[in-house]
Amino acid sequence: MVTHFSRLQLQTFSIQGVKQFYHEQLAFPVSYESDTEIHFQPTPSVTLCFTEGSEPTAPAHIAFEVATSGFDAAVNWLGDHNVALLKWPDGRIVDGFGGTGKNVYFRDGDGNLLEIICHSYVQEDVLPSIGAMGLLYLREVGFPVEADAVVAFREQLVRLLGFQLDKVYDNFTFAIGGTAHGVIVSKTRKWIPIAMTALQPAMNVILGVSSIAFLEGVKSRLDADGIPYESEPDAPNRVSFQLHAYPICLELTEDFEADVPARLQLPLARQTL
Ligand SMILES: [Fe+2]
Repeated sequence: MVTHFSRLQLQTFSIQGVKQFYHEQLAFPVSYESDTEIHFQPTPSVTLCFTEGSEPTAPAHIAFEVATSGFDAAVNWLGDHNVALLKWPDGRIVDGFGGTGKNVYFRDGDGNLLEIICHSYVQEDVLPSIGAMGLLYLREVGFPVEADAVVAFREQLVRLLGFQLDKVYDNFTFAIGGTAHGVIVSKTRKWIPIAMTALQPAMNVILGVSSIAFLEGVKSRLDADGIPYESEPDAPNRVSFQLHAYPICLELTEDFEADVPARLQLPLARQTL
């Protein structure tokens, strides 16, 4: 099964700029740094990488889960550290959705839309709260696609990777594998809360999986669908492919136990493959 977002690689126009935001302002530890690349380690199980780019790219959307009991403190900490929280059209900053959770949004220097979110169903004693904001895991990565591709993309994720779906609409779906929530949206549906146009960012998404057997199953399903993939004999713990022009890599990682989503009591922790 897919367990989590393990690594996200984004493009930036300024390594120093992202370092000032993610390290100096958000206090994410730096795990690697060169003139053209920097890696942050917001939690032990996720790496956020930026490489210097020269091609225009669109901003990405990502969301970090925090414990409900730590949400207000995380929001206050952001305010205390001069992170501009985005407003809804009515002026509010914190959104409470259906009484089951809360979230806030802000942007980095490249315009990437970040979110801190909590859900009342998430069990708080399963994962440690990391850093000044008490992050648990990277929950969401946005995947804008053409309006007529939303259905095909989410069905591929179900068929190929065993994802489950939630909030299934014509222009929006959560495609869920473990703690990883892919936000499959139409480019015609703007990102909340600032009605930001959703375009395809230049990004590589690396998903953690629970076993080599699962990877082998994915390879045969990719074969059956005629989707090319890369899998090197000396790296049997990894397979890379593209879906709807998004580079995706599945990797067997040792740092995230397969039963974490179930222990967190995520509603769709069970997967079909
Ligand atoms: Fe989101």
